[in-house]
Formats: sequence, structure tokens, C-alpha cells
Amino acid sequence: MKDTVSPPVLTLSDLTVHRGAAKILDRVSLSLAQGETLALVGESGAGKSTIATAIMRLLGDAKVEGTAELEGAGDLLALPEKQMVRLRGRRLSMIFQDAGSALNPAYTVGRQLVTVLRRNLGLSKAEARTRAVELFTSVGINDPEGRLSAYPHQLSGGMQQRVMVAIALAGNPDLLLADEPTSALDVTIQAQIVRLILQQTRARGASCIFVLHDLALASQACDRIVVLYAGQVVEAGPARDVLERHRHPYTQQLKSCVLEIGTEELNAPEGTVPPHDQMPKGCRFATRCPRALSRCAHEAPPLTPAAPEATSPLSHHFACWNPE
Ligand SMILES: Nc1ncnc2c1ncn2[C@@H]1O[C@H](COP(=O)(O)OP(=O)(O)O)[C@@H](O)[C@H]1O
Ligand code: SF4
Ligand SMILES: [Mg+2]
Repeated sequence: MKDTVSPPVLTLSDLTVHRGAAKILDRVSLSLAQGETLALVGESGAGKSTIATAIMRLLGDAKVEGTAELEGAGDLLALPEKQMVRLRGRRLSMIFQDAGSALNPAYTVGRQLVTVLRRNLGLSKAEARTRAVELFTSVGINDPEGRLSAYPHQLSGGMQQRVMVAIALAGNPDLLLADEPTSALDVTIQAQIVRLILQQTRARGASCIFVLHDLALASQACDRIVVLYAGQVVEAGPARDVLERHRHPYTQQLKSCVLEIGTEELNAPEGTVPPHDQMPKGCRFATRCPRALSRCAHEAPPLTPAAPEATSPLSHHFACWNPE
């Protein structure tokens, strides 16, 4: 764990997202320390991408409540769009799941990177080209000068994702959001890209929120883990606590689902997440939980410190009436 005395880079408080009648996120609170890497884990549909996209303020017409305080910038959810445009790419950047569709097929990757560099850093064309070559080199692209003139379709999936990482790093952001940036790639390339993103994040002293569906990979790669279930935080804390001393039955189930890196989907715990219009009023996990008590279906458990004296939002917390 990194020094937690310095103020958090990002603090989400009670982030709630509605789409129509569905509550996609329900009072999600989390903090990210300076230089920390945080993994968001949970099954498909848990709300991981919604959190990342809400922070970037790219959720479109969803109804968003709560706050997302970025150090020195204020509440991202309340800033005028003009200010958000200035922050995207410079203070916070997102690496999307599928580089193939995030890159523009009509322009060379060099042109796309140079454009971002000129816009974010105000560089001349020649300066931006020099910086583009440096960035391509730092993300492990061979023949960086030659690759600048390639179109996305001329590159492999792994190379496209490296280009996306270079574009995300171009404005020297201090917060990177990586949304399952490797799930479209094959096994060995996935590991390389995860390592690359973490190495680049750490080398720059930046912070990173990593959306991963593999708890084991999250614990190896990240300082802290937040486990989401049906739009709520069910357990959060230092990676080792969540992996080895977890208290929530859902974390236990996630842990016992051994995921082979490279499989498309999480080998999910038994059962399915209830549809939004049939969500239990109490604990959302109650319909699948082997430890459920009668109160669980109608009383929602609050997030509770795992050790009564460790009340910092960065310490180990869980939400369960009948913990492991
Ligand atoms: N654009 C959208 N319109 C309606 N529902 C959406 C939209 N995007 C996501 N959802 C719903 O929000 C929930 C959370 O989705 P998402 O954040 O993508 O989960 P994850 O990234 O954990 O797989 C899911 O139930 C999903 O169906
Ligand atoms: S609160 Fe109850 S239903 Fe929910 S995880 Fe804990 S024991 Fe299971
Ligand atoms: Mg997602």
C-alpha cells in the first residue's frame, strides 16, 4: 500500500446511476490514493464500466447522483462540460476494452497520437512527432517511426492496444482508467499489456483504476481491490486482505471460480444476478447466498470495517450480516 497520508486523488461518494427505472449503481463510494492501483472486480453486469465511464462523464443520458472529487479539480460530476473536455486526456484518461473500435480506422495511428499530443500539450507538429516516437518506444512498439504511418487494421490486436496505451499516456494524466483492456487479446499478450499499463502508471507516479474480472490477477497486479455485486460495493480493501481474509460470501465465490486467463467470460459463481426490477430490497446477493439469514432479504447490510479500529476508507470493509 502506498502512503495514505497524502489526500486521495479521487474520491467517489454515493455514486448512484439510474437508467430508466433501473438503479445500475447504488451508492458506490471509494477512494484512490496517490500512486495507487485499484482493481474493480465482479461479474459481467456488476457496473464496473459504468463507474469508469461516470468518472469520465461519458455516460450520456443516464441519471447520475453523488460526487466524484478529483484532487485539485473539484466534483467531476458537477463541472461544466467545457472543463471536463480540458481534463480528459490531461488529468484523466481511459483505455477502452477494444482498441480496434476505439481507434479511428480512417487515420494512421501516428496521426491520431500526434493530434492528441498537439491538443493536450500544445506541441508543434515536429515536437509532437518526436514525442510520439518516444511514447511508442516506451510502450514497446518496435520500429516506432515506421509504425506511425500504419493504419489500425495493419496492426495486431496487441499492437493496437499498445497504441491506445500511448494515446492515453500522451497528456501525462495522473489518473488512468483501464476498462478490461486485455479481454480481446490472447493469453500471453494480455499479461504483457497488463504489465505494461502498471509499469507505465508506476513510472509516472500516476494512479490507476483497473477493471478486471479476474480476482487472482487483480491481487497480483493491484494495491487494492473493490468487489462489486449488482451495482454495489460488497467488499473493498488492500489486495491481500480481500484475497486471503475476505469476509463476504460473494468474494469467496469469486475466488473459488478459477479463471484461466484468456477465457472470454468469468467462470461465474452459480446462479445469476437478479434483473433490476426484481432486485431484493435487502442484500442484493441474498438470492444466491449460501449463508443468507432471514433478515438478509429485507435489510441491506452496511459497509463495515473488518477491524473495528481501521475505519479509513482505504482499509478493509465488507457489507454482510453473516460474514465468513
Ligand atoms: N447504455 C446502457 N443502457 C442500458 N443499460 C445499460 C447500459 N450500459 C450498461 N447497462 C446496464 O448496466 C449494468 C452495468 O453494466 P456495466 O457497467 O457495463 O457492467 P460491467 O462493466 O461490470 O460488466 C448492466 O445491468 C447493464 O445491462
Ligand atoms: S448479507 Fe446475508 S445474503 Fe448478503 S452476503 Fe451476507 S449472508 Fe449473504
Ligand atoms: Mg464492462
